[in-house]
Amino acid sequence: MSQLYDRADIYDLIESEQRSEAIRKDWAEFQGSREIHTLLDVSIGSGGMTLPLQELGIEISGSDLSEAMLSRCKMKADAKGQPVELKCSDFRNLSCWEGKLFDCVVSTGNALGYVENSDVPLVLEKMDRLVKPGGYLCYDSRNWEKIRRDKQRFYLYNPFFRDGNRINLVQVWDHNPDGSITFNLLYTFEKDNRIFQKEEFQEHYHPFGLDLALDKFKAMGYTEIGISPFPVSLKTTDFNEMEWYRLIGRKPE
Ligand SMILES: C[S@@+](CC[C@H](N)C(=O)[O-])C[C@H]1O[C@@H](n2cnc3c(N)ncnc32)[C@H](O)[C@@H]1O
Repeated sequence: MSQLYDRADIYDLIESEQRSEAIRKDWAEFQGSREIHTLLDVSIGSGGMTLPLQELGIEISGSDLSEAMLSRCKMKADAKGQPVELKCSDFRNLSCWEGKLFDCVVSTGNALGYVENSDVPLVLEKMDRLVKPGGYLCYDSRNWEKIRRDKQRFYLYNPFFRDGNRINLVQVWDHNPDGSITFNLLYTFEKDNRIFQKEEFQEHYHPFGLDLALDKFKAMGYTEIGISPFPVSLKTTDFNEMEWYRLIGRKPE
């Protein structure tokens, strides 16, 4: 089965100017009065969640494990006339950024769940080394605790329309006996009420509890720790209700 991130064109079907605008608005509200002018995303992928922040005046840099996602990110940034510095790197080893410091280092797109739980604190440590004193460390994640509790399996998405075709995405999640979760993604491409193409992918995640990350932020001396729903407009303060969240903390000066 082909890998989703080798098909950055399919991954990006979700993109639209409307979505980019919503992402910008959400980040601006989330950032509030925090001083963030330079931002490194260590799971930038094709840049869907980070490139829109360029219009807020934030200088974006990024790394990712997938060459295909990075090359699509580069193409989109170049097309906007706002190139970004990109590196291919596993976030468990961020030595490629050594010597640089950023106002904010972030992992976007629920990427921390890709590594084993024991690696999550290690990734946060590697990210922390690239945060300026007084800067911010941040990640977003699905609320794995809620997912494990609810065990919802079927996720249907609104169709995308491209070049006169309708594209449907269905996800079915398998809860494996070892606690990991496999996302089965099926894209069907339709014209004239008939499917003419199907693309199937599997993504394997290792759910981790909030405390694993929270304890690491605290152990590294981070303060002003905030947990918000993602998107922030959902307003709830009850973590149990959040489908997806962002955690941010401030590094000591
Ligand atoms: C769901 S995508 C999110 C991409 C982008 N942040 C966005 O929101 O559109 C997850 C990304 O995490 C990357 N990734 C997975 N494991 C990684 C690792 N160990 N190190 C760095 N990136 C990783 C994948 O290549 C993929 O681009």
